[in-house]
Amino acid sequence: MCGIVGYVGHRPALGVVVEALRRMEYRGYDSAGVAILGEDGKLAVERRAGSPQVLVDALADHDPAEFAGTAGIGHTRWATHGRPTDRNAHPHRDATGEFAVVHNGIIENFIPLRAELEAAGIELESDTDSEVAAHLVALAYAEGPTAGDFVASVRSVLQRLEGAFTLVFAHAGHPDTIVAARRSTPLVIGVGEGEMFLGSDVAAFIEHTREAVELGQDQVVVITADGYKVTDFFGGEDVEIRPFTIDWDLKAAEKGGYNYFMLKEIQEQPQAVAETLMGHLVDGEIILDEQRLSAQDLRDIDKVFVVACGTAYHSGLVAKYAIEHWTRLPVEVELASEFRYRDPVLGQNTLVVAISQSGETADTLEAVRHAKDQGARVLAVCNTNGAQIPREADAVLYTRAGPEIGVASTKCFLAQVTANYLVGLALAQARGTKYQDEIMREFAELEAMPELIEKVLGTLDPVRALARELKDSPAVLFVGRHVGYPVALEGALKLKELAYMHAEGFAAGELKHGPIALLEDGLPVFVVMPSPKGRAVLHSKMLSNIREIQARGARTIVIAEEGDELVRPFADHLIEIPACPTLLQPLLSTVPLQAFAAELAEAKGYDVDKPRNLAKAVVVE
Ligand code: F6R
Repeated sequence: MCGIVGYVGHRPALGVVVEALRRMEYRGYDSAGVAILGEDGKLAVERRAGSPQVLVDALADHDPAEFAGTAGIGHTRWATHGRPTDRNAHPHRDATGEFAVVHNGIIENFIPLRAELEAAGIELESDTDSEVAAHLVALAYAEGPTAGDFVASVRSVLQRLEGAFTLVFAHAGHPDTIVAARRSTPLVIGVGEGEMFLGSDVAAFIEHTREAVELGQDQVVVITADGYKVTDFFGGEDVEIRPFTIDWDLKAAEKGGYNYFMLKEIQEQPQAVAETLMGHLVDGEIILDEQRLSAQDLRDIDKVFVVACGTAYHSGLVAKYAIEHWTRLPVEVELASEFRYRDPVLGQNTLVVAISQSGETADTLEAVRHAKDQGARVLAVCNTNGAQIPREADAVLYTRAGPEIGVASTKCFLAQVTANYLVGLALAQARGTKYQDEIMREFAELEAMPELIEKVLGTLDPVRALARELKDSPAVLFVGRHVGYPVALEGALKLKELAYMHAEGFAAGELKHGPIALLEDGLPVFVVMPSPKGRAVLHSKMLSNIREIQARGARTIVIAEEGDELVRPFADHLIEIPACPTLLQPLLSTVPLQAFAAELAEAKGYDVDKPRNLAKAVVVE
């Protein structure tokens, strides 16, 4: 994904746009660029491969008067089409240099469009799909039915584009106007006094205004200093807008004294879980945030699919254990990227739970669309108000983790796991598989979790010391059973993405079916132990597994409940977590694994917030 910004107002636009790009950096940091509109009818553009700081350094070589205008656009890129080079950095311009465009998403039909432009004698400068949009708008403005009309020219081009895109256009002939449009990737309008903002998310302008409007699917917005106008792509009709007030502040998007956002976000987990629960039990009833399904619809559900990607998928694996246990409904958990291509059997009594922090992950969004096309009901678990996935869902439960800036998900994972439990309880309530007093007891147990997470956070120094000690280990394995299995997968994913290390998570019972061959002297193996007071059989099977691991000389790092004396003799390193209900343990056992990965990455000198090759939301399939 990329970060997009736009500004029209009374201040020099360059400062506003660059500051917004810094806040959008988590969305992509392969290249950055700006286009500033001058009163003299000129468009000043600079763009560079690298972070926004590289752009700022390059801007220092220009005459400041060139970039003094009060309207402009900017972009921070996560490369999809074309390598991250200066040439491929946005903004892209048309041949006359009068139109500039920034783009997030993918223009799927760019190959024929590019061929058409080349056939018309236009030389494209970059390898990107985005550049075609600048040329097409320039052509539409130059002649034909939309000639001389900036907004109509943009609208005519939008109708030719396929794929998912947010596009923001500037035109030298309109120094006080920015035109933008979106389909399936996000854009938010910030409404200030005598100034208007555009951003891929509200972090772009939160220091200037809390008043915002979410741009809907297939909508166009025109901003000037005095206001904004939203219309649809096609007929240019006015559309209903959805204004909202942003309820988190700038501090929430800053590091708050930590070296990395991720460290701050790990510490914020008790609050993320507490806030996700807040307000969802009213008069003994579990309440969702948005509910476009009737009680009967929920009662009729006979099958649940959970679809998600990466960390969100791991939270979905945890959900399976809880939903099946509490509701006796069959639950399948699917990688969203696989779901729609294997022709899943869906009907109106199927509930598809789509989990996504960003609410814009392309694979998950397409899985939602496929499910809806087949008549299934969709419930979204999402951290981003008004994002595309919750907009298209029949019911929504928002995780209230606040902005997650670190690319590797931490607090959103715990918030997703929490929200998934609420989905399970809501279904149990609708189906009558749990009495009201049982639901209230489960909810009370959930409410006790933030305090226990806080306790875990207070005991992480030895985990960090261990991470530094193991920094040069060639690989690390993670094993668990039951809800400990997704935790093992998540621990391995965190280590891969942050420390670029070979890390694998396994279901402990699978070890002997192959992976045990990997074990050798000194190899670190994290073992996530279930509670000895939960299901005795799980605990005793894990004890057997841990013995097998130790017998092969591997180094066991055991996450176990306080007072679990049976496991102590087999732990080369013991990480104790407080006792809690069996199903809720991932809320505690994941935390040391997050801290371990972050510390190890830091010890290796890697950027914990911005791991290589990754972006915060993946809006292409
Ligand atoms: C890993 C991570 C990713 C995301 C995945 C889905 O730390 O953050 O695996 O979980 O890309 O993203 P969302 O939840 O935005 O759909």
